Amino acid sequence: MRPISDKQQLQKLLQTTRNEKNTIGLVPTMGALHQGHLSLVEKAIEENHRVVVSIFVNPTQFDNANDLKNYPRNLNGDLALLQKLSRQIVVFTPSKAEIYPGEITSQEFRFGGLEKTMEGSYRNGHFDGVATIVELLLKIVAPDKAYFGEKDFQQLQIVKKLVKLKRIPVTIVGCPIEREANGLAMSSRNERLPNKIRQKAGFIFNVLKAAKKKFGTKSANDIREWVKAKFQKNEDFELEYFEIADQENLTPIQRKQKNKKYRAFIAVYASGVRLIDNIALN
Ligand code: PAF
Repeated sequence: MRPISDKQQLQKLLQTTRNEKNTIGLVPTMGALHQGHLSLVEKAIEENHRVVVSIFVNPTQFDNANDLKNYPRNLNGDLALLQKLSRQIVVFTPSKAEIYPGEITSQEFRFGGLEKTMEGSYRNGHFDGVATIVELLLKIVAPDKAYFGEKDFQQLQIVKKLVKLKRIPVTIVGCPIEREANGLAMSSRNERLPNKIRQKAGFIFNVLKAAKKKFGTKSANDIREWVKAKFQKNEDFELEYFEIADQENLTPIQRKQKNKKYRAFIAVYASGVRLIDNIALN
């Protein structure tokens, strides 16, 4: 499996697919692939004739230079995993210059408030960077469908809004979170956790499951306080935020309303590694 880094070469190949009236699925990734990514690729293979997996660690979505520097990279391992799934996958590995021929910078977007809460308020410019790269990749690949994991639920909602705002003709498909045996949401960053902490990190999902149980009877504020207290008692994990928000507009809630869907969202530091997760509450 030889990756393609040149966008014109990729587009030429995809034109043949399109000429044959075959559909294209895109799975955008930053590499360091794990079962979470592979489940997206499997779904894309099921639903399309041709699947493109992009691997590009996008500098503009990192608000922290160390996080970017330490982000795990393992192209050979990634290619081996993809090859096991299907030899037909096209892997697109553009260089920084291929994606950002001029200045390495993001566009500024407004997503009607979706970008302001949670990840948006803790990671400066993050969603501008994500939307910039996703728009570029959608333009280069022009897929029929593009696949994103629900672990980054806020990102998924923003990407859906982006394609509406920019009228990009693609269907965005959200895929469920894959978890390690102890419940820890799969993430490329998990590789940076010391083993002992990784084993204990099921704690985060256990807190989310308990919050879900409490959601039937307790107020959102009571649950927020309960989660804070749980983390204060745990030395291994530092809570950045826990929020209960409306699943559609991502606004934190005070009072539950009938016929609305809610989700709990969490961001945690463990041994300097930032982890996020979320759970549907109703
Ligand atoms: O979810 C990710 O890995 C990234 O944010 C994405 C969508 C590949 C854009 O760089």
